[in-house]
Formats: sequence, C-alpha cells, structure tokens
Amino acid sequence: MRERKPISPLYLFIFLFFFFSLSHSATPGDTTVIQKLAGLLSPTPSTWTGSDPCQWSGISCNGGQVQSISLASKSLSGSLPSDLNQLSSLISLSLQNNTLSGPLPSLSNLSNLQEVYLDSNQFTSIPPNFFSGLTSLQTFSVNQNPLLPWVIPNDLSAANSLTTFYASNASVTGSIPDFFGTLPSLQSLRLSYNNLTGGLPLSFATSGIQNLWLNNQQSDAKLSGPIGVLGSMTQLLQVWLHSNSFSGPIPDLSKCTSLFDLQLRDNRLVGIVPNSLYSISSLVNVSLGNNMLQGPYPSFSSRVTIDKSMGINNFCNVNPGPCDPRVMVLLSVEEGFGYPSNLANAWSGNDPCKAWSFVSCDTEGKSITVLNLANQHLVGTISPAIANLTSLKSLILSNNNLTGSIPDSLTSLPQLQTLDVSNNNLSGNLPVFGGNVTVKTVGNLFIGINLTPSGGQTTPGSNGPSPASNSGGNTNSSSSSGGRRVWLPIVIVAVILCLIVVLGLSYFKYRQSSQKKFKQINSPLNGSEMGKIGLVGMNGNGGITSEKHSEISSGRSEMQLVGAGSMSFSIHDLRQVTNNFSGDNILGRGGFGVVYKGELGGTKIAVKRMESAVISNKGMGEFQAEIAVLTKVRHRHLVALLGYCVEGNEKLLVYEYMPQGTLSQHLFEYKDNGYDALSWKQRLIIALDVARGVEYLHSLAQESFIHRDLKPSNVLLGDDMRAKVSDFGLVKHAPDGKFSVETRLAGTFGYLAPEYCATGRVTTKADVYSFGVILMELVTGRKALDDSQPDDRTHLVTWFRRVLINKDNMMKAVDPILNPDEETFASICKVAELAGHCTVREPYQRPDMSHAVNILSPLVEEWKPTQFDEEDGLGTDFQMSLPQALQRWQDNEGTSMTSDMLYSHQRSLENTQSSIPTKPAGFADTFDSMDCR
Ligand SMILES: *[C@@H]1O[C@H](CO)[C@@H](O)[C@H](O)[C@H]1NC(C)=O
Ligand SMILES: *[C@@H]1O[C@H](CO)[C@@H](O)[C@H](O)[C@H]1NC(C)=O
Ligand SMILES: *[C@@H]1O[C@H](CO)[C@@H](O)[C@H](O)[C@H]1NC(C)=O
Ligand SMILES: *[C@@H]1O[C@H](CO)[C@@H](O)[C@H](O)[C@H]1NC(C)=O
Repeated sequence: MRERKPISPLYLFIFLFFFFSLSHSATPGDTTVIQKLAGLLSPTPSTWTGSDPCQWSGISCNGGQVQSISLASKSLSGSLPSDLNQLSSLISLSLQNNTLSGPLPSLSNLSNLQEVYLDSNQFTSIPPNFFSGLTSLQTFSVNQNPLLPWVIPNDLSAANSLTTFYASNASVTGSIPDFFGTLPSLQSLRLSYNNLTGGLPLSFATSGIQNLWLNNQQSDAKLSGPIGVLGSMTQLLQVWLHSNSFSGPIPDLSKCTSLFDLQLRDNRLVGIVPNSLYSISSLVNVSLGNNMLQGPYPSFSSRVTIDKSMGINNFCNVNPGPCDPRVMVLLSVEEGFGYPSNLANAWSGNDPCKAWSFVSCDTEGKSITVLNLANQHLVGTISPAIANLTSLKSLILSNNNLTGSIPDSLTSLPQLQTLDVSNNNLSGNLPVFGGNVTVKTVGNLFIGINLTPSGGQTTPGSNGPSPASNSGGNTNSSSSSGGRRVWLPIVIVAVILCLIVVLGLSYFKYRQSSQKKFKQINSPLNGSEMGKIGLVGMNGNGGITSEKHSEISSGRSEMQLVGAGSMSFSIHDLRQVTNNFSGDNILGRGGFGVVYKGELGGTKIAVKRMESAVISNKGMGEFQAEIAVLTKVRHRHLVALLGYCVEGNEKLLVYEYMPQGTLSQHLFEYKDNGYDALSWKQRLIIALDVARGVEYLHSLAQESFIHRDLKPSNVLLGDDMRAKVSDFGLVKHAPDGKFSVETRLAGTFGYLAPEYCATGRVTTKADVYSFGVILMELVTGRKALDDSQPDDRTHLVTWFRRVLINKDNMMKAVDPILNPDEETFASICKVAELAGHCTVREPYQRPDMSHAVNILSPLVEEWKPTQFDEEDGLGTDFQMSLPQALQRWQDNEGTSMTSDMLYSHQRSLENTQSSIPTKPAGFADTFDSMDCR
C-alpha cells in the first residue's frame, strides 16, 4: 500500500484562496470601513452582527470586496465614515430617505462606482473632490439635503456615462456648468430649488437631455438670459424652467417632437408665443403665466393643460384670436429691438391708441401718428414693418444704440414729416425721402460714408454724385433734397454747405433749448416744482410729442385760470351748508384736512377743508389752475370734484358725496361701523373699480395724472358698494417735504412704492404698487402696516410676498371671514398673484393699470351666453327699436353689472369727454347753471 501523500502547500494555498473568495468573507480593509460605518449609524441595523460584513443585509460583496451598500429608507441617523472611498470595488451606494447627517465623505477614485443615492437626508456638506475619478458614474442623486453652498465641480465632466444628475434643493450655487451639455449619455438633469445664477449653457444645443428641471432658483438673480437653446434640444421630454428670470422670446420648439411638459411660467419671457408651439403634438402640459408675453392669446388644442395664470401676461386679448394689425406692427418693431422690457411691459392690450407709452394717435384714436422711442436704451434694428403704420408723421428713435440700416420701406410712409435717428450706430445708405421729410441722422458714424468728412467737397471731376444726397450728412440736421443733384463750382457748393451748417446748428440749438425748457416742466417734482402744473406728459422726454403736450397743458391751465370762476364757491355758502363746519357733520379726516357733510340745492356734497399748511401760498395760482383742471376729470370710478373755494387762509374742495364711506371702514372697521363684512365678489368689484379709475387717471387722453396716495381710506363707496377713488391730484400741492412726513406719520407708509420713498421720483408705477397693496388688503383683510401682528407680519407686502412664494400657505393668508369655496379660492389666488406683480421692487416690472383691469374684469364676471329671457333686463329683445334698446341699457347702467361691451362703450364716452377738457363735462354743466353764491 502506498502511503497517502501529505497535502502539498500549493493545494492548501489554492484551497484557501477559493475558500475565501467563494465564502464572500470581506477583505480586512473593507471590513474595517464597514465596521466603522456600523459604529456611526444609529441605530445599527439589526442584522449587522457577526464578523463578516458581507453576510450583513444591505451589503453585498464580490470576492470579499463590498460592491453595494443599500440602506434606503431605514430610519437611520448618524453619519458616514470619512474613508468610505476605501471600498475600492463599490458600485452602488443607496442611503436615501434617512436622516443621516454630517459631512459627506469624498468618493474620489471609486472608479467602479455607478450609482449614488443620497437624497432626503440631512447631510451638511459635500467635499470639493467628491466626484474626482468617478469615471463610471451613471446616476447621482443628492436632492433635499441642507448642504453648505457648493459648486458643481469640474471633476464631474469625466463621468462620461452619467445619465442622471439630481441635485434639487441642495444648495448648489454658481452657474450650470457647460460640460452638462457635452456629457454624451446625460438624460436627466434636475437642479430645481438651488441658488444657481447665469444662463442656459449654449452647449445644451447638442445634448440629449430629456428631462430638464431648473425651476425655482432661490438666488436673487435666479437663472436668467434667453432660452433659445431649447429649440435645438431635440430629445427634450420635460422642461421645467418656471420661477426664474429667463428673458427673451420663446424659441421655435418644433424640433422637440417628444416634448410633453413645458413649464415656463414666472419668468420674464417676452414676445409672441410662436405658432409652432401649438403644433407640437406630444405636448400635454404647458404653463406660460406671469411673463411679459405679447401678441395673440395662446391657442392650444384642448389636449393641452395650460396654467390658469396664463393670462397674466401682456397678450392683446383675453381669449384666442388675432390682434389688431397696429399691435402686430408695433410688435414687429419691438422684435427688431429684441423685445426690451420697457416696451414689453408698456404695450399690452389691443389698442395702441389707448395710452400705450411712446405711441401717439390722431384725435379719433385710430391711427398712430407718432412713435417716439428716444432715449430708451434700445439695441437692435429698425423694423421695415414700421412702413405699415401709414399715418405715421413722426418717427423718433434718437439716442439709442440701434444698428443696421434705415429700411427703404420707410420712404413709402405718405404722411411722414420727421424721421429722427440721431445718435445711434446706424450704417448704410440713407434711403431717399421726399422733400417734406426732415431726416436727422447726426451721430451715426457709418451713415452717408461716401461723403468725405471735410464737408462733402466732391470734386467736379468725379463722376456720379454722392449717393448720400443729403448734403448735410455730417451736419446736425438736414432736409433731404430728394435726390436732386447739384452741379456747381466748388465755391458755391461750399457757401451753400456753410449756410446749411450754420442754419442747421442754430435750429438744433433752438430745439435743444426748447426741449430743455419742457423737460424741466416734465421732470419729477422736486421741492421747487411742488405746486407746479401736475399734468405730467408721459410720452417720453424731449421728443416732439411731449413738447406739444407741454404746450397744450400749460396753455390749458391758463385757460382754466381765466375761466375758473365758474367752479368756485363762496366760503359763506360752504359754511352754511356744513352748519358752520359743525363737528356733527364731520365725515372723516384725511392727510389734507377734515371732510364735512353738506347739502347744496338738494344734492349731498362733501366739503374738504384743507389744513392751511397743506397748500403753500406761493403756489396758489397754480393750485387754482390745477383744481380747475381736476374739476373737469370725470370718471364713474373717480370721486367728482365739483368745485372749490379759496378765500383768505381758507381752502376748501367740494366733492360729490359718497354715502357708504371709505373702503378702509368696510374692510378693517366693519364691526365698529355696523357694516356686513365685504364678500369676495364685492371686494373684486371694488378692486376693479379702483383699477379702472386709476387706469383712467393714468391715461387721460395724452396726459397722465399720478395719484400718489392710493389707499383704502381714499377709496369711497356708494350705496351700490361700487367704488370711486378720491383725493387724486392733491399730493403735489403740499409744501416742500411736508406732505411726505405727514402722510408717513398718518400711515401711508405701507403703501408707498420703495422707489418713491427712496428718491421721491414718481411714475404711474408708484400707483400700481399702492394698488397692489390694496389688493393684498382685500385678500387678507389686514392693514398694510399692522403693529398688532408679530414682527414678521407687520409689513403686509413683505409678509404676503413671502406667502406667495409657496402657494400652499395661501389659504391661511386669506381673510378668514371669506371662508372661500374652491372656485372663490381660485379667484382669490389670481388676485393675490396680481398683487404680487404690482408690488415688485422694480417699477418697470410692475404691470400697467390696464393690465390689472384686464386680469380683474374676467374674474368679476365670467361671460356666459344668456337665454333670451324676457325678465332679463339685459337680454336682447329683437322686437325693440334701437332707441328703445339704448334707453333700456341706459336705465340698467349703474344698477347692474353691465357686459363688457357696454362698459367699453361707457369708457369711450368718458374718454371723449375728457379729451375735450376745456369743455366742462356733463355733471359740471349742472353746477355751472346752479347759483352757488
Ligand atoms: C428643501 O429641503 C429642506 C430640507 O433640506 C426642506 O425643509 C424644504 O421643504 C425643501 N424645499 C423644497 C421646495 O422642497
Ligand atoms: C400637468 O400638470 C399638472 C399640474 O402641474 C399635473 O397635475 C399633471 O399631472 C400634469 N400632467 C402631465 C401629463 O404631466
Ligand atoms: C406689413 O405689410 C405687409 C404688406 O402689406 C405685410 O406682408 C406684413 O405682414 C405687414 N407686417 C405687419 C407686421 O403687419
Ligand atoms: C457700431 O457698429 C459697428 C458695426 O456697424 C461696430 O463695429 C461698433 O462696435 C458699433 N459701435 C458701438 C458703440 O456699438
């Protein structure tokens, strides 16, 4: 028998090798790391007993090396060991949905690592070298962690297999790195709720990203810039860019044929919604609200769900349908300039002749005669479509930075008298205009280049005339000679040129000095301007239009001064009707004085006795003139000023009487006054009435009144609970500095726009701000400044704007007495949103009053088709004659909610009245004929 050989050491070695590798017993190195992890986690997972981590649940190994750690949703707290990246074979790390905290360890050089899930924990920081050497990384997710601010490191650009990168609500700062556009496999990029700034990288154009979430950046600047690159991202399925500051137009997305969800709301997008968007057949969810979009109201197929706030834009209509052709032309003009926000904000609605800034129209309000865009920081080019404005007489584009050439099409404008493109950067040949067109091109280095700089001394020998036929191309202004050719000896040419230069220069000087004069009148009121004429020309500055306006308004006020007697009451009469200003007759006290009730010839009136300090004696003449103008301002939502009295130290104003008192009483003190709480419907109607009144003030024919002191105590109510705005036009009469101090003490502070507080400069947008505050008060039932609230709620605007950020809080902010149902709540939310827009810090970002009217009017009354009901006062009865129908409408007017058509009819009537301001309007006639002395 042969003896059995002993097992050779070699076999033993091989056996041990296989034993270890097949038994998955962890290598000592990995064991150390995992045991450290076990020590840091709390509670330690119950199955983590025994000495071999590869046997523990949640850990899997290969060849004794840990490949995956899966501890998702295990209610674990604790932290991670700093040397986690010693697990050199790690492929997958899943720790999401726990409450793990402390700093994240670096995962650098884990070249096998493919998946990392860290979301919804409490990790506090991420080291800069976290991603270095993660060349196999496919999925990374760190959403919802309170990390210290961090920047996405460049190391990540080596992760060529990355398909998914989620870091929403994870304190990411800086800009979106370019390399995300070039990572070949990237499909999902989610970076919502961070502090990112900057724009969309242009590298995105070639990326295959399908799912892009960048919404709700919390940084002040947010993500910004144009979104044109989306048009090339053909793989897109879902795009969330909402609540940022993206600007520019919506690009043509027709190549994004799989796009189903496009969220663009709450940005600063401008321009016309491209038609191509409506034909993307995959699209089902779109939001566009709260941008500055213009043009036709979007018309999506019924398959598409659109955000309710879509109307909060500057569309020409509130329903799909074409815009007025004039609107479309002006939008092409705007497009040439890249839709700058000053135009995108100013030009909403469907009637450019209704108080669009920079635009003036003929007296019928039909055709655009003046387009004055001087000094608007415009860049871009002049649109040839301007030629479609065939009534244009004056086109002023001076002092911008326009490039390109002057379109030839402008020469076809039959009425054109003035073309001023001075001080731009235009180039190319000057088109040949008719002899009656004054063309100003000074300050454009590249226009008329064929003319030599020495003054156009073309030598007689040089064949072919200078193409720039305006021989004064380098002078200040010139009349184009319509291509006439001058063939004269040099001396004569030179003499003529000199003459033209001299004449041109002096003309230009004259214009400049006259413009300066007018500018002074139009400048925001500083101390010395207080008490001056309060009509502020709003059509730009220095241009022909405002010149004309100033002439008109100063001329007019003189006329009022002359004819003022008819509106003036004697102090004797006013004493009598108020029972010698008896305390029993006091209706209220305002920033300007005490208001008394009275009755005059059967008509109830309100007499405001101004505090003598309010009007400085110096400005009396102007005061009188101004008041005379104010007595002509008539609108159903403005409290009519019936007359005034100035005798000695007494200054009194006589107003129509508003039986239901102030909005402030009904909103804040209704219990004390024995009123019912205002319903939401009533609040809406009041808001709309105020908006309409103020809109009218802002757009009185070609001029603008600014109220400056809008607040609920200046909103008065009639027995039908319809509202009228009072006290307009008075603020500026306060002596230097006094008013502001007084009213701030009086509590107006909460309503003043920040720029008005800070600089005293005031535009119509200051009123829009105050209006926004009133809306907030209507929604919340809280005062603008309320010291009874905790500190963080004292200032309504600050608090409410915070509420607006998270819509979920909205319900709690609503006035509890409203107790809204779902439909009412939706309406409240719209108003709340509008209030938010009205109170943004930057005046130019606030909408116009007309926008507020557009938002509120559909909320007040949704138009519904009515049956032809005999009982229905407004139903159309085809048996009635037109005069009968008119009579019936008039009878109904004021007692019931009129249809939009009736309303606009009324408005246009009122506008006509006010545009002939020297003629007293209806109510005033009554008073003229009454003997009040
Ligand atoms: C962001 O994350 C924090 C916790 O880290 C959480 O409290 C907050 O609600 C999250 N915000 C959003 C918008 O998800
Ligand atoms: C569309 O958006 C709404 C609201 O955001 C959402 O509830 C709905 O699920 C979305 N539909 C699709 C198909 O994404
Ligand atoms: C301007 O008129 C031309 C010719 O009638 C027309 O083709 C073009 O669409 C018009 N442009 C605008 C913006 O209305
Ligand atoms: C004016 O336009 C020319 C090209 O036409 C350009 O080179 C130059 O930089 C522009 N100047 C200014 C001040 O924009």
